[in-house]
Amino acid sequence: MIRQVTSIDEIKYLTKTFHSKKKSVGFVPTMGALHAGHESLLKKSVSENDITVASIFVNRTQFNDPDDYKNYPRTIENDLHVLEKAGVDILFLPKYEEIYNDDYRYRVIENSLSKILCGSSRPGHFEGVLTIVLKLLNIVSPAKAYFGEKDYQQYLLIDGMCKALFMDVEIIPCPTVREKDGLAMSSRNLLLTSDERKTAPNFSKVLRNAKSAALAKARLEELGFKVDYVEDLYKRRFAAAFLGKVRLIDNVQI
Ligand code: PAF
Repeated sequence: MIRQVTSIDEIKYLTKTFHSKKKSVGFVPTMGALHAGHESLLKKSVSENDITVASIFVNRTQFNDPDDYKNYPRTIENDLHVLEKAGVDILFLPKYEEIYNDDYRYRVIENSLSKILCGSSRPGHFEGVLTIVLKLLNIVSPAKAYFGEKDYQQYLLIDGMCKALFMDVEIIPCPTVREKDGLAMSSRNLLLTSDERKTAPNFSKVLRNAKSAALAKARLEELGFKVDYVEDLYKRRFAAAFLGKVRLIDNVQI
């Protein structure tokens, strides 16, 4: 049975005990609504560490749109099933008041990569992400922490933060898991209507096949996407686009 922990003192005590017994701890932070993408991170951690801790915390500070926070899918029963199946040992479910005991007065600010791509249309988003990840890594103190490449900008920023702050943790990127039709797995896919779900696989297809970012943007708009950005950077094509109210992001190697 997976052990559920809500108190910061308790999880710190547990992880200290593992360290004193020379047991390696792997960590998979999530916001819940777990899918096969998360499952691959969890399984990798389970295979590489003695103990795997996962967290579920829908982190309010990274949502620039209050409706997006309110509508974010919460599927705890299914999440527990996924965690058990993957062999996770501990689920950390922190409380907002305890995690943000400073009322979010202290935050991590990055001044370059966090301002472009998703950062330019979601002000404050990466501040919220980096702050919660720093807090969680300090609490759990894992040897390795696992992040999906679907959020490649997030992965680069977290990896950069850990290196800049000399943190003793290895940040492990894990390949994007896709549905059979090519749609990148995402908790937000649950919010698509059935018509939007039919259109959604075109997102990755167009990113992969278009000759340039500009052509990809034009084609996506023809198909009914409201494009936020398509940009080629670091030998990858990054994009974000709305289908109805749902904001999808993806990136492919080019
Ligand atoms: O990728 C996510 O699910 C979140 O941004 C993370 C890393 C768990 C921080 O809240």
